[in-house]
Amino acid sequence: PRKIIIDTDPGQDDAVAILLALGSPDELEVLGITAVAGNVPLALTQKNARIVCELAGRPDVAVFAGCDAPLSRPLVTAEHVHGKTGLDGPEMVDPTMPLQDQHAVDFIIETLRREAPGTVTLCPLGPLTNIAAAFLKAPDIVERVQEIVLMGGAYFEVGNITPAAEFNIYVDPEAAAHVFGAGVPLVVLPLDATHKVLTTTPRIDAFRAMNSAVGDTVAAWTDFFERFDKEKYGSEGAPLHDPCVIAYLIKPELFSGRKINVEIEVASDLTRGMTVADWWRVTDRPDNAFFIGDVDTEGFFTLLTERLARL
Ligand code: BDR
Ligand code: CA
Repeated sequence: PRKIIIDTDPGQDDAVAILLALGSPDELEVLGITAVAGNVPLALTQKNARIVCELAGRPDVAVFAGCDAPLSRPLVTAEHVHGKTGLDGPEMVDPTMPLQDQHAVDFIIETLRREAPGTVTLCPLGPLTNIAAAFLKAPDIVERVQEIVLMGGAYFEVGNITPAAEFNIYVDPEAAAHVFGAGVPLVVLPLDATHKVLTTTPRIDAFRAMNSAVGDTVAAWTDFFERFDKEKYGSEGAPLHDPCVIAYLIKPELFSGRKINVEIEVASDLTRGMTVADWWRVTDRPDNAFFIGDVDTEGFFTLLTERLARL
């Protein structure tokens, strides 16, 4: 299996992504989960990550707490989407599995130095603070990363936190700019892809039909998470943003995109955090990202439902 570190700010969609990874041990070995501040503050994201591991029956997974604020800005959170806890919806009990003592940034550095070069993939599902902090603290690890497959950004779909920016990139644009400029092979799952995987009623019913704690909890999470997109955008259901990253690692053939140049806007107040994606190749700036534009929606939900049912 491919070795991955999941860097995350759970978040209902982050939680589903973690479950999808833990339900796919033939393809993915989760070396650790690193929490970052994002959807809610760090104290909640690290706790939520442990709640999700326990739900999956995997209290052995190592969970680390990372940065509690962006590199150089105050934290912006998204309780309006995810609720006060970040995992609003079902009642969840507090986790009993431990939080690791080591800082997430040091875990990322140590793991990349320990494992053979080119064998560890980073999967950021939140603001890129932990990843950028690791690269800044230990530049030697950058060339050891196999690939970064991240959820963030938007092109045709533009923004969801400002008119120009997607949440994960907006919260820490300096971190994003550092990661996008690092020279690591990068796969980007932007809103253009994630807005195509919506939790319609029959899809949520399929979670519930699993008759398991995981199925019932995921259904309750997606029921809660949906209300925001339904009310705000009149869409059919909620986009399962972060699970796209894990689905891409398991079945890349479900996704299509273009290798292009993507730059991050950090200066402008109006468009801060915008992913300026040269989709039409109108510049000669070098390619730095495989930017996903489309996904096989049915294939995605078949995979997700099948893997969640294994837990
Ligand atoms: C991203 O922002 C968060 O609210 C979600 O968890 C996802 O990672 C979507 O813009
Ligand atoms: Ca997230």
